[in-house]
Amino acid sequence: MTDVIYFDNAATSWPKPEATLLAMERYFRCIGASPGRSGHRLAIEAGRQMIETREALAELFGISDPLRIVFTKNATEALNLAIFGLLKPGDHVITSSMEHNSMMRPLREMEAYGVEISVIKCDPSGELDPNDMAVALKPNTRAIFLTHASNVTGTIMPLVEVGKIAGDHGLVFCVDSAQSAGALPIDINDMSIDLLAFTGHKSLWGPQGTGGLYVREGLEKDIKPLIMGGTGSKSEFEVQPIFLPDKYESGTPNTIGLIGLGAGVRSVLERGVENIREKEMELTRRFIDGLGSIPGVTLYGCGDPLKQIAVVSFTIEDISPSDLALAFDEKYNIMCRPGLHCAPSAHRTIGTFSEGTVRFGFGYFNTFDEVNIALEAISEVVSLKMRNLICRN
Ligand code: ALA
Repeated sequence: MTDVIYFDNAATSWPKPEATLLAMERYFRCIGASPGRSGHRLAIEAGRQMIETREALAELFGISDPLRIVFTKNATEALNLAIFGLLKPGDHVITSSMEHNSMMRPLREMEAYGVEISVIKCDPSGELDPNDMAVALKPNTRAIFLTHASNVTGTIMPLVEVGKIAGDHGLVFCVDSAQSAGALPIDINDMSIDLLAFTGHKSLWGPQGTGGLYVREGLEKDIKPLIMGGTGSKSEFEVQPIFLPDKYESGTPNTIGLIGLGAGVRSVLERGVENIREKEMELTRRFIDGLGSIPGVTLYGCGDPLKQIAVVSFTIEDISPSDLALAFDEKYNIMCRPGLHCAPSAHRTIGTFSEGTVRFGFGYFNTFDEVNIALEAISEVVSLKMRNLICRN
């Protein structure tokens, strides 16, 4: 596909680095075996490459023991494991109004089992005041669940401050890094993170169907597995192993995907998260500055590239987000995502429920020329719309 401008990186990043493609092809052509099961050389090589993926992720997140990383098929599954595994009737938890449904839906489900949820309202730009979280604390508060960055406005949450509140009160701090892993620096120690859910297919440049959950040492005693079964370890026992990662990794894994993820993460590490952040911030700045001079456009979020990731939501007066995204695709070859982005609470917070917004999600591989072309397209759509309005009058 040529001449496509891909601004849907918040849904899934594309293109992937050549290294990701090569690692996956090499695995399927030359290895193909299941890791951690058989003892032959191909199985051992598959296992070795899976360990390399864990090691790369551990380096990225400041995790000293790579075996504390549990592979899942995405951030959603990781959050489900954290929420269903940890919470018990009578627990109280705190979260924010900017969460994705991958957080909200399992939390809401737990309400039916006697878990109480306080949803802290963020301001209309999606920003969270950590003091509001502190005010919501109760004697039975068990955990804080928080996204690192909104998938609607890109707003970055104050993880260090919230992590401190969680630490000071002995709470479990669970972070959804679906939008931030690889795009923003993350250090589980500096941010006091106990559970870190991540996805592989966004800014970690791996394939879809990969993700994971970091579990702080000792917490596995309190977290039930979502699934149980064969792990390739302790096969003599009919009960689930209690050590990590096996406790939570039953069944043959997505080996090809996780090896591709390892290559993606190594590409991120080679370029450096700070450099990736810098480029994505400049793309965002160029776009936000350009939008400011186009009449009839409303920008959502804080409008400050320093306070958001490369995710920008906007609307154009009198044009529905879905019509707009269709026009971008059909007339301008720009791929983006309109609507509610699986985050209805976030859209209620910023005042765009129920039509939603158009969301541009920039990635490291986008160019400043592409941003300029998009700004010209938006100006053209606005002026065409104005001409149509004038004609109708
Ligand atoms: N959560 C992804 C998005 O925001 C799929 O588009």
